[in-house]
Formats: sequence, structure tokens, C-alpha cells
Amino acid sequence: MTIILDGKKTANKILENIKEQTKQFSKKPKLAVVLVGDNPASEIYVKNKSLKAESIGFESLVINLPSDVTDDNVLEHIFILNEDTNINAILVQLPLPQHLNTQKIIEAIDPIKDVDGFTSYNFGRLVLGYNPYAIPCTPKGIIRLIDEYNIDLEGKNVLVIGRSNIVGKPVSLLLQSRNATVVMAHSKSVDIKSWAKKSDIIISAVGKANFINPDFIKQDAVVIDVGINRNNNVITGDVDFISVAPLTSFITPVPGGVGPMTIAMLMENTFELFKIQHSLFLI
Ligand code: GUN
Repeated sequence: MTIILDGKKTANKILENIKEQTKQFSKKPKLAVVLVGDNPASEIYVKNKSLKAESIGFESLVINLPSDVTDDNVLEHIFILNEDTNINAILVQLPLPQHLNTQKIIEAIDPIKDVDGFTSYNFGRLVLGYNPYAIPCTPKGIIRLIDEYNIDLEGKNVLVIGRSNIVGKPVSLLLQSRNATVVMAHSKSVDIKSWAKKSDIIISAVGKANFINPDFIKQDAVVIDVGINRNNNVITGDVDFISVAPLTSFITPVPGGVGPMTIAMLMENTFELFKIQHSLFLI
């Protein structure tokens, strides 16, 4: 029997809980999002993030910068946000336009406000197994969804397809810390299919519609689809859901799987940073 991993339901439960807890504070957590340029997908993501923040009683600020902005100009905005005690969390929407230095811009974020956990301080602490201020939202959301359905990770063979800093690398670390045996595949990997066929759990962050078909699946595997592929306004994941789902024990839908969990974890991270700053600085 196949169980659909309902990210929307799980995310709503988490968000409802954060909303209740937020009411106990006289101040509101505040998330700032920096959006550079006019990438339509990024514009939608940012809008969803700020609407969701406001719907649970947070404040949000979106800083829209033109696509020809310079590194120094973006850095100036980050420094102002770092200094502003009303701002608890800073997110720079990725990808940035080609001419910008992503590393320099992300590194400028104060680690205590780094809601994505992308600075070398927080990411380094994740690698070392220390407590970062924040853990990247999509990987954290994947693990939370797996836990929600009591899927055991210990000793499981997990194939992660994709090695990005946003998903592949951090999710591999989190899985390994939960005693899974992790294989990381990527665009240069040879014969991903045969790795997949041996895997108890497949996490696909490839960005190619229908990349995962029934030939990749061991009977009763768990399949987590992180892909968001747009075709004529229809969003699909990396997995050919209709043909793959019947072979699996658990599978995420797209939309309604990992996506809502990412936003829920962004709100959770914002709230956690707010609480840390609250206790450290008595804001
Ligand atoms: N672009 C796609 N996913 C993410 C994310 O989790 N954080 C940021 N900052 N940009 C993204």
C-alpha cells in the first residue's frame, strides 16, 4: 500500500502551532527577504513566503532590488538589516543574477539572522555536528516529514540525487547524522538507476520532469520529490508520480509535498532566531 506524504497538512499543523506560540510575545518575529531582479519563479516564492509569515502573525519586509544592482549595493542592504534590531531573520532569495557574488552576499548575513543556515558559520556547524542557529529549510522540512510518518532512517540506504548547497549537501548530512547510509549522486554520476534500484529511500533534487521512472524503484521504497519543474504553468516534480507511486511505500506529491514543508521550516527558523535574539538581547 502506498501512503502519500502530505506536506501541506503537516506544514499547516506546524504553522498553526507557531501562530499560537507567537501570540505569547508582545513583539512579532520579523523576516526580511531580499529579492534581486525579476525571475518570475523567485517572485512567486518570495510572495508566498511573506504572505505566509503575515498569516501566522509575523511581520515581513521584502526588499526588491533591480537586476543590475551591484554587490556593494546588496551588501549595504544586508548591513542595514543586520543592524536593525526589529529584523530577526534575513533571507536572500537564490539564485542571484550571474554578475553578483553570491558567496560574498550570503557571508555578509549575520549568522544569528541567517534563517537559511547558508553562512559558513552555520553550514560549518552543521557539517561538524554542532548546533547551528538555523538548518537549511528544505532539508529540515524533508526530515520533519519523514519523522511525521515514522519512517525509520537508521541503517537505511538513501540515494540523494543532486549536490546543491540548498538541498543535496545539507540533506545528506542530516540523513547521515540520523544513521542512514547516504549515497550522493549528481549530474556526472554514472548509472544513477542502478544506485536507485538498491535504495530504500530516494531523494530527488534534479530539476528534470519525469527523471525518476519505475525502473529506478525498489519495491516499497520511499520517494521524496524535491523537483519543481514548470511546463506551461503546470508544476511537476522529478518523479513520474502516476507510474512510480504504486511501487512505493511512501511518496511525496508535487505540489503539496516538500514545498509547503520548506515554507513551514522557514517560519520555524524565523521564530527560533527571534526567540534566541529575544533571550540574548531582551528585544
Ligand atoms: N531558492 C530556492 N530555494 C531556496 C532556499 O531555500 N533559500 C533561498 N534563500 N533561496 C532559495
